[in-house]
Amino acid sequence: MLSKKMEKAINQQINAELYSSYLYLSMATYFESISLGGFSNWMRQQAQEELFHGMKMFDFVCERGGRVILDAIDKPPSKWKSPLDAFENVLSHEQKVTGLINNLVNLALDERDHATNIFLQWFVSEQVEEEDTAGGLVDKLKLIGKDANGLFMLDTELSQRVFTIPAKG
Ligand code: FEO
Repeated sequence: MLSKKMEKAINQQINAELYSSYLYLSMATYFESISLGGFSNWMRQQAQEELFHGMKMFDFVCERGGRVILDAIDKPPSKWKSPLDAFENVLSHEQKVTGLINNLVNLALDERDHATNIFLQWFVSEQVEEEDTAGGLVDKLKLIGKDANGLFMLDTELSQRVFTIPAKG
């Protein structure tokens, strides 16, 4: 059984994951507007991944006898100065999410809630991957600079991304 405090904290994180999904969907429309369909695809897949993160927490709260209360999702930004600006936003956002996940782990440890701590470890590892991916794309975009060929090559690469729900375990 989750404590009320833990239940509230995971509910807030569900909202943060849904906001992440909304943010990346907004970035997908930005990339559509500048004719970078591959980048847009990457963001659409990322939005699905964030929804999956939120649903993973949703299911956990239910399994532990808690109640999910959905809250309003903040309006995301809709404009970025460049692809690099958007991916720098992805990286800073993921760094913020890492901090939120770490706070949840701290709470689970404070409460000696071992089940929640174990559950959250998946997210701790996931955040390492999320920051690494976003940071790698920021680096590539910096290297590309104003080279249109490089940008179109990266757009083709990002058009290949397909999000698949990870196997349970
Ligand atoms: Fe759900 Fe991008 O972290």
